[in-house]
Amino acid sequence: MRIYAIANQKGGVGKTANAINLGAALAERGQRVLVVDFDPQGHLTTAIGANKAAAGGANFARALLGQWTGELGELVQEVSANLFVLPSSDDMFLLEPGMYGRTGREFLLSNFLEPLASVFDAVVIDCPPSLGALNDNGLTAARQRAADDPIQGTIVIPVQAEDSSLEALRLFLRQLVTLQEGLRIQVDISGLVVNLYDRRKGGIATSTMAAFEQHPLDVLAVFKDRKELREAWRAHKTVLDYAPDSEIADGFRALAVRVDPALAPAVAS
Ligand SMILES: Nc1ncnc2c1ncn2[C@@H]1O[C@H](COP(=O)(O)OP(=O)(O)OP(=O)(O)O)[C@@H](O)[C@H]1O
Ligand SMILES: [Mg+2]
Repeated sequence: MRIYAIANQKGGVGKTANAINLGAALAERGQRVLVVDFDPQGHLTTAIGANKAAAGGANFARALLGQWTGELGELVQEVSANLFVLPSSDDMFLLEPGMYGRTGREFLLSNFLEPLASVFDAVVIDCPPSLGALNDNGLTAARQRAADDPIQGTIVIPVQAEDSSLEALRLFLRQLVTLQEGLRIQVDISGLVVNLYDRRKGGIATSTMAAFEQHPLDVLAVFKDRKELREAWRAHKTVLDYAPDSEIADGFRALAVRVDPALAPAVAS
């Protein structure tokens, strides 16, 4: 099972859009995929067409805190063939405060996901726009494991081509170093996804794009501001489902193969 954390503490850069549509693209390639709404705002849950779980009942936040035990099937909703979601609930707002004071709190999500390796091929975590215990949990779940471990993790960082995004990236990478040192873990970063790119915005966009291209991290994909994505979001569908022939749907298909080269179609000889 591969665990992808889609993370950046900067808001509105496209974490949720990437989590939904990378998940959909992996599912389209035959992977059994679980997309995790790990942001208390719950945007992923609604945008993917799922329902929030009831507060106080069977929900993911209470499961992580050990306040609810039951079958995984009670928490997960099916979106489409091969694509499943762990939806948010209003109790997600209680999760971060509930984690404080617990030893090993950064590993709660990881411990929850690891037994699912026999059920899913890929888990895609939509991290929140903050540097805190939830983000740390997402990144820790996506850490590197021993080479023979059936679980492998990696991080995908959506960014926007503007100056504040460069500074946010620097801060994010610094936090990642602190986390790795503090927990003695190693993380692998697949690379950056430059989102909402608009060359017409002029020098700021193009010069920041150039800075990302020169960055030691790979640029995995560049997505323009596309109406199909906004329409799909409003229709509560993935863009692969809503506009399967669009350029941006193809972009997510290419991203899926980029983050997991084993999924590349066989080249006819
Ligand atoms: N390439 C794109 N083209 C058009 N609209 C997009 C694109 N990427 C994201 N959006 C839209 O921009 C908004 C912000 O994107 P999204 O919610 O994915 O960002 P985020 O990083 O998850 O935000 P937050 O930090 O609040 O969680 C959403 O309304 C989404 O539909
Ligand atoms: Mg989001």
